[in-house]
Amino acid sequence: MSTAVIELRDVSRTYQVTEDVMVHALQSVSLLIERGEHVAIMGSSGSGKSTLMHIAGCLDSPTAGTYLLDGVDVRDIDEDDLSDLRNRKIGFVFQAFNLVPRTSALANVELPLTYAGLSRAQRRRRATDALLAVGMGQRLHHLPSELSGGQQQRVAVARAIVTNPALVLADEPTGNLDSHSTHEVLELFASLNAEGRTVVLITHEEDVAARARRVIRLADGEVVEDRRT
Ligand SMILES: Nc1ncnc2c1ncn2[C@@H]1O[C@H](COP(=O)(O)OP(=O)(O)OP(=O)(O)O)[C@@H](O)[C@H]1O
Ligand SMILES: [Mg+2]
Repeated sequence: MSTAVIELRDVSRTYQVTEDVMVHALQSVSLLIERGEHVAIMGSSGSGKSTLMHIAGCLDSPTAGTYLLDGVDVRDIDEDDLSDLRNRKIGFVFQAFNLVPRTSALANVELPLTYAGLSRAQRRRRATDALLAVGMGQRLHHLPSELSGGQQQRVAVARAIVTNPALVLADEPTGNLDSHSTHEVLELFASLNAEGRTVVLITHEEDVAARARRVIRLADGEVVEDRRT
């Protein structure tokens, strides 16, 4: 039995933009990411990084090839089970934070717990703990608009980890952060990884990638480098 969390077999993702224009965002990518790995995905703008993350997170499907999540071909999972699985197993951090406006930090972090079968008090407890873990204990009742970029990103990280996901997928989580907040968010990912979680992080920055133990580089939708450090 393989221990791969993420397995792509000859995965391609093509966008049909107009009748005669096709974009090959991913081209025959084969990739294995094992449980507990800390991986950085690099590559220039348009190289296919976000496309790869969306497929890995079951937010998008390959147009060719096979994607196995925890050894299961996602094509064999129906949409309801897939969203349930996404909720339980995967924590997402997006570059643009994607916090719900006019809703407190605490309520934003409680959101993924809505369907977890927890009481209101348990949800509040878990969300508070996650916000404490990212150093946001003093900002529980602030709205996103009342937080700095770095603080919003930490709330987004708290929201990603509140369900205790085995896999954390982060797309440019430090792209909008200053060096101090970048350092704090990277420390957070390193500690999540030290707890045994699989962390896959997309970044443009070499020094951010240097913190990972494996760097996968994409160019024009293909893997051009796969290096363990
Ligand atoms: N919905 C879409 N329709 C058409 N083309 C798309 C779509 N989404 C992405 N693409 C194209 O697919 C290619 C890969 O896009 P992707 O978003 O994966 O790049 P990226 O590596 O994440 O880039 P960036 O670093 O700028 O975020 C790009 O050429 C992009 O224009
Ligand atoms: Mg992208």
